[in-house]
Amino acid sequence: MLNWIEKYRPRSLKDVVGHEKVKERLKRWIESFIKGKKEKPILLYGPPGVGKTTLAYALANDYGFDVIELNASDRRSREEIRRIIGQSAVSKSILGNRFIIVLDEVDGISGKEDAGGVGELIKIAKESKNPIIMTANDAYSPNLKNLLPHVELIELKPLKVNEIYKILKAIAEKEGLDVDDKVLKVIASHSAGDLRSAINDLQALALSGDLTIEAVESLPERNREKNIFDALRIILKTTNYKVATTALIDVDETPDVIIEWLAENIPYEYEKLEEIERAYDYLSKADLFLGRAVRRQNYSFWKYATNLMTAGVALSKEEKYRKWTPYKYPKIFRLLSSTKEQREFLKKILKKIGEKSHGSTKRVRFDLESLKMIAEHNPEMAADLCLYYELTEEEIKKLFKNANEIIKIMRELRKKRVKEQTSKVKKKEHLEEKEVKEEKIETKKEKKEEEKKEEPKDEKKEKEASKEDKKEKKKQLTLDAFF
Ligand SMILES: Nc1ncnc2c1ncn2[C@@H]1O[C@H](COP(=O)(O)OP(=O)(O)O)[C@@H](O)[C@H]1O
Ligand SMILES: [Mg+2]
Repeated sequence: MLNWIEKYRPRSLKDVVGHEKVKERLKRWIESFIKGKKEKPILLYGPPGVGKTTLAYALANDYGFDVIELNASDRRSREEIRRIIGQSAVSKSILGNRFIIVLDEVDGISGKEDAGGVGELIKIAKESKNPIIMTANDAYSPNLKNLLPHVELIELKPLKVNEIYKILKAIAEKEGLDVDDKVLKVIASHSAGDLRSAINDLQALALSGDLTIEAVESLPERNREKNIFDALRIILKTTNYKVATTALIDVDETPDVIIEWLAENIPYEYEKLEEIERAYDYLSKADLFLGRAVRRQNYSFWKYATNLMTAGVALSKEEKYRKWTPYKYPKIFRLLSSTKEQREFLKKILKKIGEKSHGSTKRVRFDLESLKMIAEHNPEMAADLCLYYELTEEEIKKLFKNANEIIKIMRELRKKRVKEQTSKVKKKEHLEEKEVKEEKIETKKEKKEEEKKEEPKDEKKEKEASKEDKKEKKKQLTLDAFF
């Protein structure tokens, strides 16, 4: 059975959905070649599954070109490239057709300037007289930096849910599937703009014979993490204000979640203490504006928040770190399964901490960050703080790697405090009793001598009664303080 991705790959630009402006630019570009002009190679970039490769092939097909697909990091390909880049523009391929060179997914190439690396690409871009289309997921990937001046950048935006839905619907009809529109819509909205994965999902469900809404809802959402990793790389690597501010455009995560990712990864990327400090400072300010946006229901504050967390964090470093950093999934999320759960959990924890850290509520998130650091280096102190913040053992398990250690200390601390509290109450009780006695003695002094003999009995009774009363009170106190 033919893979639907290939089966339904548009052969002509007119069948490619969306990307209207891009199609026009591509046409003008190839027509210019046909007229004998030399144009820069095109670098088509955008998330996976939006039609980059498809556009390159459809363009070639519409204008009667063959496609020679080459891989610049492959040695055999490189020899082939060398052989053909010297040839005059629009020379004929072996089949007698003119050809377009397609270099697919060039962001996978190494950033080194040597053969097989980006240096090879730059050479090809400069020397080739033939039309070249390169594709990449991320044109701002650090290893492509030196290539950018030699190519014309064209961005492909993710397809809209509605566009994806229409393509799925057309495929379903051609395949004669008996499938509810609602199911197609769920697949489309799960795809995060990635048509390839949407078509794959549809085919997988059709093959399984289960095209129910339950089956489709169990499909994992696509792309979420990939996008967040791209965004992290852009923010943490770039020193360009504009590039940084666009980092979150295609990211399907709420700002509070993105802050968490940044908070986790800043110290892995940045090496200078001042830079880390500055970056956290910007994050805390972003957090502040987010809070305001929610409290005042004024979402224009979001703009400040996103600028602070993108450009602010990006410009906190003096220069770009030329290293490969494996970004990490925020520890706080690791033990939680769904993002909704994550957000709710985080909200609850932040609220708890916020209630206790009075003056600094705006910095609760950083109180939480410091609590995580304290937990690593000083579990006793962390346990004490957890008690203070009234975090439950369940919550602690989700927050810290050494949760068990902290919980153990916490239990001991709690016991100790119950004891202390009890003895305090006892002491207090004792003091009160003494006061009562002294008062009685004073009043007694005023009374006549003959009454003295009868008094003590009553006093004893009274004392007994107040003791009972205080016992109750004591119980109450310990319960209130600790449970
Ligand atoms: N704009 C589009 N219109 C119609 N089909 C598309 C479009 N974009 C992608 N597809 C479908 O999705 C598949 C994957 O597209 P592809 O061009 O390989 O994505 P990319 O190269 O951007 O990762 C194609 O085979 C095609 O079936
Ligand atoms: Mg592709």
